[in-house]
Parts: sequence; C-alpha cells; structure tokens
Amino acid sequence: MVLAKAWSVALYGVDGQLVEIEADIGDGLPGVHLVGLPDAALHESKDRVRSAVVNSGWSWPNRRITLALSPATLRKAGSGFDLALACAVLAAAGVGPRAPLERTVLIGELALDGRIRPVRGVLPCLLAAQRSGARTVVVPSETLPEAAVVEGLDIRGAERLNEVLAWLRGAATLPAPGPSWVEPGAPAPELADVVGQDDARLALEVAAAGGHHLLLVGPPGTGKTMLAQRLVGLLPLLRPDDALQLAAIRSVAGRLPMSGPLSTTPPFVAPHHTSSIAALVGGGSGTARPGAVSLAHRGILFLDEAPEFSTHLLESLRTPLEDGEVRLARADGSVSYPAQFQLVMAANPCPCAPAHDRNCVCPSSVRRRYLARLSGPLLDRVDLRARLAPLVALTPAGQPTESTATVRARVAAARAAAAERWAQHGWSTNAEVPGPTLRDQFPLPRSVLLPLDAGLRRGELTARGADRALRVAWTLADLAGQTRPDASMVDRAIAFKEQRAA
Ligand SMILES: Nc1ncnc2c1ncn2[C@@H]1O[C@H](COP(=O)(O)OP(=O)(O)OP(=O)(O)O)[C@@H](O)[C@H]1O
Ligand SMILES: [Mg+2]
Ligand SMILES: [Zn+2]
Repeated sequence: MVLAKAWSVALYGVDGQLVEIEADIGDGLPGVHLVGLPDAALHESKDRVRSAVVNSGWSWPNRRITLALSPATLRKAGSGFDLALACAVLAAAGVGPRAPLERTVLIGELALDGRIRPVRGVLPCLLAAQRSGARTVVVPSETLPEAAVVEGLDIRGAERLNEVLAWLRGAATLPAPGPSWVEPGAPAPELADVVGQDDARLALEVAAAGGHHLLLVGPPGTGKTMLAQRLVGLLPLLRPDDALQLAAIRSVAGRLPMSGPLSTTPPFVAPHHTSSIAALVGGGSGTARPGAVSLAHRGILFLDEAPEFSTHLLESLRTPLEDGEVRLARADGSVSYPAQFQLVMAANPCPCAPAHDRNCVCPSSVRRRYLARLSGPLLDRVDLRARLAPLVALTPAGQPTESTATVRARVAAARAAAAERWAQHGWSTNAEVPGPTLRDQFPLPRSVLLPLDAGLRRGELTARGADRALRVAWTLADLAGQTRPDASMVDRAIAFKEQRAA
C-alpha cells in the first residue's frame, strides 16, 4: 500500500472548509474509486485527472487507486479538487515528493492536456484556507489577481500540472500574486444633474441616511431611473470586511472584475423584470450560485419598472428582505448567501404611462391594480415613497441643485448620529430598528406624536405604517442635526409614507 496526502477546499456558499485528500494505490482490479460524498462533477474528475496526468507525460498507475476525501460526511462539489487529486495520485505513484504536498493546499480544475483551469470561488477558498491555518496555496494563474486580496498566505499561481510538480520538487518557482489594490470604481453619476424633483431628491437623501427602502412613482422620463442610480454616490464606502465579503460572493458567482477584485463602492444591481428566480435570488443547476440579491449585498437592489416583475419574482424577495440572507435548498443539502441590500423600486403610475396623468387612458380598476401588484410583503417594508411630477423646465429655477458631495456629507453625519444611538443594540441604521424598540427606548413627547395618533384614529395609518413613519422621522432629525424629531418631521414622514400611487 502506498499512500499520499494532499489538501484542497470545499465551498458551501461563501464558506469553505479544508478537505484532506488521500490517495492509496493497492492491489486489486485496476480502477479509480472516489469516496467521501463527491457530487457528479467531482466524479468526472477521475477521467479528467487521468487524461491530464497521462498528457503531462506520466504513466497512470494501472492498479487499484482509492481517492478518499475527508471529512467524509461533508458533501463536496465541483471541479476544483482536480489538481489536488492528480498530485496525490502521482505522489502515491512515486512521482514527486510527498512531504511538501502534505503542507500545500491545491485549487484548480485540470484540462485534459494538463493545463490548470480557473474555478469559481477561489477567493472564499483562500479565506477558508487562511482561517484553517494553511500556509501555502497553489491556485490557477488566472485567479492570482483575486488571490492577491488575501493576506497572510504564501499564494502561488500555476498554469500546468507539471509546473506544480516541479515546484513541489523544488526544481522550479511559481509566481506569487502582484500587489493588491482597491478599485476606486467609476464615479457614481452626479446628483446635480437631476433637475427639480425636490420631494424625490429629499426621499433619496433620507433613504441614504436611514437605510430605508424606497419606491419612486412617476410618469416616464421624469428622472426615476436617474435618481436611483445616484443613490450609490450618497452612501458611505464599504467597510473592508464587507468589501471582502462582497468580493467573495462575486467570486462564487464568477463576476469578479479582473481589473481590481476588491471594490469599496457599494454595489448597484438592477435585475431585469424578465430575470429568472435563480438570477434574482440565486440557484441554478449544480452548485447553487448567488443571485442579484446577494450581488447587491451591502448595496442597492434596483427594480426598475417594478410592477412589470411577476408576482412570483416579487414574492421571492420576501425572505431575503426579512432575513438578510438567502438559503438555497439542494437535493444534497443547502447553502446560504448573504443578501443585505437596500431595495429601490421605480414605477409608472399606470400601464399606459402618459407624460401627464391627465392623459391616462387606463380604466381606474387597472390603475389601482397596477401598483397594488407591489403591495403586501414587499411594500410593507418600504418606509419611503416619493412621487415625481412631470418636469416643467429642464433648467433649474431658483437655487442651484445640490451636488452628490454636498448631500453625501449630510448623509454621513446623519448616519454617524444614528449609528451612535443604536450602537449598543447592534444596529447601524434607523431602518433596521424594530418599531417597539423605537417607541420604548426613545419615547417622544405626546405633542410630537400627535400627527401619528391622528392618522391612526382616522384610519389613514396602520400601526405598522406609524412605525415606518417614526423611523423616517428619526432619519429626518439625524439629517437636520437634531437629537430627536419634532412634530413637523413626523408630519413630513407621514407624507412620504402616505403618498398614494394614483
Ligand atoms: N429630473 C430630470 N432632470 C434632468 N434630466 C431628466 C430628468 N428627468 C428625466 N431626464 C432626462 O430624461 C432621461 C430619462 O430619465 P429617466 O430614465 O430617469 O426617466 P424615468 O422616470 O426612469 O422614465 P421611465 O419611466 O421611462 O423609465 C434622462 O436620461 C434625462 O436625460
Ligand atoms: Mg426609468
Ligand atoms: Zn394609464
């Protein structure tokens, strides 16, 4: 019996775990036996690994080969184990030294000719290796830019199986990643470009400051899409750990920009209304991939023309909105991806969407039903609704419009105030605070709450609507630099909430 050992990483969502690979060459009928919960793609490894080894100039041991992946109870998926499997077989066959292999984590798919192909999720694999105390990791060369982001590991890139073998023997070197850098990202479009729409601009600022979900309703060509795209520019940059987590999600999705994998710009993701559920919340065949909601983690998910999304699609957003993550069930287990996003929806008031409401030809029942499609679980979580009016002039009248930089500074100050207030509870924005906590921890004088009571009494507000208005009122206070909202802010907040669609 000849035994050799190698290491690789199995991914579950964006979490990885080190996998020990043992190769045993023994007597018995020639063949390869893969044990330890491999999935279908991993079963195909046997053929790829064999061809890659043979086409790299080595003879394949014509004996009984057992490849064991452990921990055996963990399901293992994908093609990223190829390189480790090949090296383990060769080491067991006496090609290449065993000791260095036992100290190295190997990640990569093998092509039949012995080239090493990139795989998705190298970044989270490396993070897992680092957490598990690994020192040296070999990855496909093409993924070196993404690997550069991970610190504290000796990372090497390889293009062919033979390069790795030579390196293990100490006969060659493998390149390390270049320096890592943070991608500044294209500057967000400028808020000053938006003419008029004072209400909607304020709603945008409040949404940015309080982390509130936002619905923009208005006729076509009034700036709904323009405004939504400008929200990212008002938000603070991502914290380093959030940027790393987002990069890990993008890596698993195969969407990491090679230009600079780490970006501190909050993501802006705008799925089309014809998207599939898998594209929106994640899934797909084989390994479940993250969807738009996870790619929008710590940033904005923008549903343009929101009523055009099927009820089915809109419903699928409910769980991620509630839980801040998506759990995708699979026949062989489930994976979860983080999905804490800020929802922004844009809608026309009705399907015919004339420039001026008075020209609408929709029957009133159709008008009512149109926006009602968004209702229920989704709209329940939207604290802010703003109405856009048809533009009267494209040149701003009166005061010059404020720039992104000016508003962002106000937003930053407001966010800091809110974060300080909620720090002991573990929240950072007003939108996260549950109604009861908001009312109990920071009670407001009766005089301030009067507009809410009146709304409740007249049946214009529900209890939930009142809580939402209260959250927005706190954000208005934070923006104004006040320690708590006054009655006018509560009034303003109710107005945001109650803007009727039709
Ligand atoms: N408030 C505005 N200020 C400046 N330009 C505007 C404004 N509104 C619309 N525009 C111009 O019209 C174009 C379309 O605007 P935008 O896409 O934001 O409209 P919309 O409200 O999303 O319309 P639709 O309902 O058709 O999607 C913009 O690219 C811009 O040139
Ligand atoms: Mg639009
Ligand atoms: Zn209409």
